[in-house]
Amino acid sequence: MFSLKSKVALVTGAGRGIGRAVAQQLAAAGATVMLNDLDASPLEEAQKAIDGSAHYPGDLTDPLFPQQLVDRTIAQFGGLDIIVNNAGYTWDNIIQKTTDEQFQAMLDIHIFAPFRILRAAAPFIRDTAKREAAEGRRTHRKVVNITSISATDGGAGQAGYSSGKAAVIGLTRTMAKEWGRYNVNVNAVGFGLIETRLTQPLTTESKIDVKGREIRVGVQQPMLDKVVSASPLGRAGTVEEAAGAVLFFCSPLSDFVTGEVLMCSGGMHF
Ligand SMILES: NC(=O)c1ccc[n+]([C@@H]2O[C@H](COP(=O)([O-])OP(=O)(O)OC[C@H]3O[C@@H](n4cnc5c(N)ncnc54)[C@H](O)[C@@H]3O)[C@@H](O)[C@H]2O)c1
Repeated sequence: MFSLKSKVALVTGAGRGIGRAVAQQLAAAGATVMLNDLDASPLEEAQKAIDGSAHYPGDLTDPLFPQQLVDRTIAQFGGLDIIVNNAGYTWDNIIQKTTDEQFQAMLDIHIFAPFRILRAAAPFIRDTAKREAAEGRRTHRKVVNITSISATDGGAGQAGYSSGKAAVIGLTRTMAKEWGRYNVNVNAVGFGLIETRLTQPLTTESKIDVKGREIRVGVQQPMLDKVVSASPLGRAGTVEEAAGAVLFFCSPLSDFVTGEVLMCSGGMHF
């Protein structure tokens, strides 16, 4: 149906979960993929499993790192055609127990990081599209930003997360308008319940380490049951299914779609 041969893709948060599955599918379609993650060891494993890929570990919430990541991708592979802003995590609590640090952390990863990556890519995107236009060529490039049903529907305990993920939709629609002239399709995919470490059944042990902070993640079992039974498809999604929706927006199948949000949630809304 299509090939991504000769395309260069950058996927953030590709060490595990949805990002890793996205990177795998992009590579299977022929793309050369730069993988980024905060956690070096799962990232290395992912890179070894994905043919022709490279990896560049680092923290996207470090204000200087997104520029370094974009520069490194272009320097190593000679271009940049697909950007998937996927890295993220949840740090939940009811609003009166949410600290400024916690709220800011959600904005830092979910909206500042994609903003800084796209800003860093802008000179390359603009100059390349102008050169191609002068040569009478039109090449579509792709940006896919990851959002959530928590952004569109709200999620109790997720003031910071849902705000960051809602902001991503604004950024998506704005960049679709700014970059349409450069033939860049900018879209978002919003997930419902996808089986990753973020949605594991909540126990006292379900914690993740983010930059030395131990953060409780997971979903209470009654909530998981409720979400699954409220879903028309009656189940959680797999990371491969999640990646499929992202792949559509990375492919020529979506060349005339931009500024849109595709919900990949088994039909479920909160
Ligand atoms: N799993 C779901 O049900 C679900 C639902 C809605 C949205 N999402 C979103 O999907 C995306 C992927 O999540 P997932 O479920 O695969 O989770 P995951 O924890 O399996 O993978 C996310 C990856 O992002 C990385 N990451 C976090 N902070 C980072 C940083 N500062 N710099 C670089 N990498 C960083 C993590 O190390 C991790 O490997 C996230 O944006 C998440 O918010 C997931």
